[in-house]
Amino acid sequence: MAILSIPNQQVQLTDPKEIRTFMNQRGIFFDQWSCAVHFDDTASTEEILAAYAADLDPFMKNGGYETADVISINSLTENYEAIRTKFLAEHTHSEDEIRFFVDGQGLFWFHLENEDVFNLLCERGDLISVPAGTKHWFDAGETNPFVKAIRIFIDMSGWVPHYTESGKENEFLAFNFPTRG
Ligand code: LAC
Ligand code: NI
Repeated sequence: MAILSIPNQQVQLTDPKEIRTFMNQRGIFFDQWSCAVHFDDTASTEEILAAYAADLDPFMKNGGYETADVISINSLTENYEAIRTKFLAEHTHSEDEIRFFVDGQGLFWFHLENEDVFNLLCERGDLISVPAGTKHWFDAGETNPFVKAIRIFIDMSGWVPHYTESGKENEFLAFNFPTRG
């Protein structure tokens, strides 16, 4: 279940309805899908995609998305430091960035025009679609990363990050992953 934070306003939202409204008002799609199956590390991409087919297939059909795959990051991931650095700098993409969190967690940061920077901690069951051109960055944490997420594309080339070089992310390096309660 997601947690939304606006660090400069000391605001934190944990109610999924409020989070959805907040995101939708800003043109960012947010939803939650449930699934009874919990996957361990031996689960294949096909098994995971099949388990979410009831939500995933209509979503892809309606959005005209062609491909889905599963990305896994954990403490055994090689070159995690380099992977982390790649997405920790503010960037945009030429197509929507869509991620569904099967397990683990990751922090999406958003830098919209005339707004304080906010972030969304995505966890099991959270679906997010970051519109093309939206300034954002992503962090799975400095140590012990754990992300298992479905990525949905129109065309993989749209996923290349275009860096803004704003350095905005550096203002928030001291922010710790939020916890509930
Ligand atoms: C990406 C993220 C994580 O571009 O922002 O894949
Ligand atoms: Ni991105």
